[in-house]
Amino acid sequence: MTSPSRRIVVCGTDTDVGKTVVSAWLVQGLEATYWKPVQSGLDGGGDRERVRNLLDLPPHRLLPEAFAFSQPVSPHWAAELDQRPLVPKQLKLPACDGALVVETAGGLMVPLTRQLLQIDQLQRWGLPIVLVARSGLGTLNHTLLSLEALRTRNLPVLGLILNGPHHSDNPTTLETFGGIPVLAQLPPLNPLNRATLQQHWQDQGLSPKFQELLDGRSR
Ligand SMILES: Nc1ncnc2c1ncn2[C@@H]1O[C@H](COP(=O)(O)OP(=O)(O)O)[C@@H](O)[C@H]1O
Ligand SMILES: [Mg+2]
Repeated sequence: MTSPSRRIVVCGTDTDVGKTVVSAWLVQGLEATYWKPVQSGLDGGGDRERVRNLLDLPPHRLLPEAFAFSQPVSPHWAAELDQRPLVPKQLKLPACDGALVVETAGGLMVPLTRQLLQIDQLQRWGLPIVLVARSGLGTLNHTLLSLEALRTRNLPVLGLILNGPHHSDNPTTLETFGGIPVLAQLPPLNPLNRATLQQHWQDQGLSPKFQELLDGRSR
């Protein structure tokens, strides 16, 4: 049986850093269910639809959003534009058999309401966090600032996943200053599909690595 600790939150240092692609990578590798609690912007069906298409997942592996807003702007404002308040109580983690991958909206300091930041919600969930960061220029500042914010709040960070072209120095520098491991690196995939994601998951030995990380936490 899967222990309740096999649940991960995927956060990003920014929007567009690859949270959805990395979440799909984890969903496939861990045979997990995907949940995007707060979706801003529904063009193309939102991130749930993108993950479904990318992995060709059956419906039970994708949970419905708690809030899905039409405009691609920060959730606090998207809720106001749609005149549908985001009620934080409704962000309670859903019951789910097996592993769960939760993709957050935007970066850590994105407001979910005018009183609540994304990082405050992470504190309420208390789940282990994987931080997705760009691999290249600009990542040192964004990533180290994000890690500092997570650390200030004593949030459990499993490590980083770097997305983008391999950089010969950033992984080491991030590990040194960030004090956490780079768990994986995902290069630009062309084509981006189940098979290429699977290949990189296997090549980097990620099944045993995540099993150890997640099971280690429940001991
Ligand atoms: N490793 C990758 N290979 C190919 N395309 C990628 C990769 N990572 C991200 N992308 C593309 O970059 C864009 C942003 O990625 P996405 O996962 O949606 O970011 P986020 O969820 O952080 O906003 C998307 O069009 C996505 O398909
Ligand atoms: Mg996304």
